[in-house]
Amino acid sequence: MKITFAATAPAGPSALVVFAAKGAALSGAAALLNDAAGGAIARALATARFDGEAAAIVELFALPGTTATRVLVVGLGVADKADAAVFEKVGGAIAARLLTSGETDVTVDLGGVTAIALPLADAAARLAHGATLRAYRFDKYRTTMKPAQKPTLAGMAIVGAGTPADDLAALAAGVALTRDLVSEPANIIYPESFVDRVRATAPEGLIVEAFGEAEMTTLGMGALLGVSQGSEREAQVLTMRWNGDGDATPLVLVGKGVTFDTGGISLKQPPGMEDMKWDMGGAGAVAGALHALAARQAKVNVIGVCGLVENMPDGKAQRPGDVVTSMSGQTIEVINTDAEGRLVLCDVLWWAQETFRPAVIVDLATLTGAMIVSLGHERGGLFANDHGLAAQLSAAGDATGDLLWRMPMGETYDKLIDSPIADMKNVGPREGGSITAAQFIGRFIKPGVKWAHLDIAGMVWAAKDGALWAKGATGYGVRLLEKFVADNFEKS
Ligand code: BES
Ligand code: MN
Ligand code: ZN
Repeated sequence: MKITFAATAPAGPSALVVFAAKGAALSGAAALLNDAAGGAIARALATARFDGEAAAIVELFALPGTTATRVLVVGLGVADKADAAVFEKVGGAIAARLLTSGETDVTVDLGGVTAIALPLADAAARLAHGATLRAYRFDKYRTTMKPAQKPTLAGMAIVGAGTPADDLAALAAGVALTRDLVSEPANIIYPESFVDRVRATAPEGLIVEAFGEAEMTTLGMGALLGVSQGSEREAQVLTMRWNGDGDATPLVLVGKGVTFDTGGISLKQPPGMEDMKWDMGGAGAVAGALHALAARQAKVNVIGVCGLVENMPDGKAQRPGDVVTSMSGQTIEVINTDAEGRLVLCDVLWWAQETFRPAVIVDLATLTGAMIVSLGHERGGLFANDHGLAAQLSAAGDATGDLLWRMPMGETYDKLIDSPIADMKNVGPREGGSITAAQFIGRFIKPGVKWAHLDIAGMVWAAKDGALWAKGATGYGVRLLEKFVADNFEKS
């Protein structure tokens, strides 16, 4: 969908959106339209028991006094509480309502929207952002869709609000890349093709590099290689470097990129196994965040590193009980080959610390089913060795709606992964499964490095439509990371 910011409505047939605040208080544009229609809008709102709740919609057809093909009156809630999040939700609601409606164009008239919580041009940008995010579809493999199922909405003109300084298109493009990577099946996106896709879509200036198993062997990445051992696909370590702030110490973001997780020899049950195509959602979020930062030329140094590997059962696959040596030198008894994410992350995190010497490192991973048991699909789990870093990430989550919840760590959890034969085992008891997973990763963080681990297993994929996504890939993490970077690392 193409979105423009214009002074006046473009010519030609179009749907029209006007607004009302709490109490069905009509905006300037809505009041003018109501007068021209002889009060029909006010009567319709009363009939629909519309009270101006944020993102509620009353749709009117054949309204007198306007050439609009249809009119949507959209609620903003209490005006002075209408902030960025509300306008994103409103944009999402408009897109959801009109996407397959038959309308090709919509004019959104923000004229006379007053007393809101942010400048009107910024509200327009947020509305556009919400609409763009909600309009995303992944239909490329659907060849027999009926006309009524296909999107029709192609253009949105936002009028009466001026032109925003930042239209947030870079951020939306990052989210879309993440959703594409997450949505693609595992026969299309595997380690090498993940790298190819990131390279092919990289904005100017983003340096994309990768290495394969020969170099991993030289580096001694025995934990990652053990996971990849059963797969015909070659594992990759992908690095995306965005250098927007001279020689400042880079922030490093690390993603779990298991392009398919069968569980390996500890094979998963068939029902739902297809979901494990999105076990690369952490890597997808890191790729999307780097894309967004590069696309808007952010004044910051950030490096994204993804451990890309496929976890398969095979004659060559690693077995439960195998002992592998990680790049750090620490040995691991592989009790369960389905606890593969931590085996990938431990080597990639170690390599990233050795190579880039970051002061702060954040990893994102669809790491444990236990995380979903704890937090459902409402928040990702946040583990950190530093209170300040945890607070920064929580705040970015609250601001963007990519919500997080801090989880505990400590000695008593840590000793649960001690092994009688190696330095540690890759699983603890069932109880506290997401915490022992975090403890495992924590053993590969060097002294003095501030580290956070985001277990996003419940957030990458949605079974139901949300305010800013259709069911499927959510793009979780991109907006969170972008905000975290902008607020805490970016030079103004
Ligand atoms: N990728 C899974 C975790 C997962 C499960 C993500 C469901 C999203 C939805 C991970 O590799 C895994 O299999 N974890 C195991 C760990 C267990 C063997 C200790 C799990 O959670 O069952
Ligand atoms: Mn697994
Ligand atoms: Zn996994």
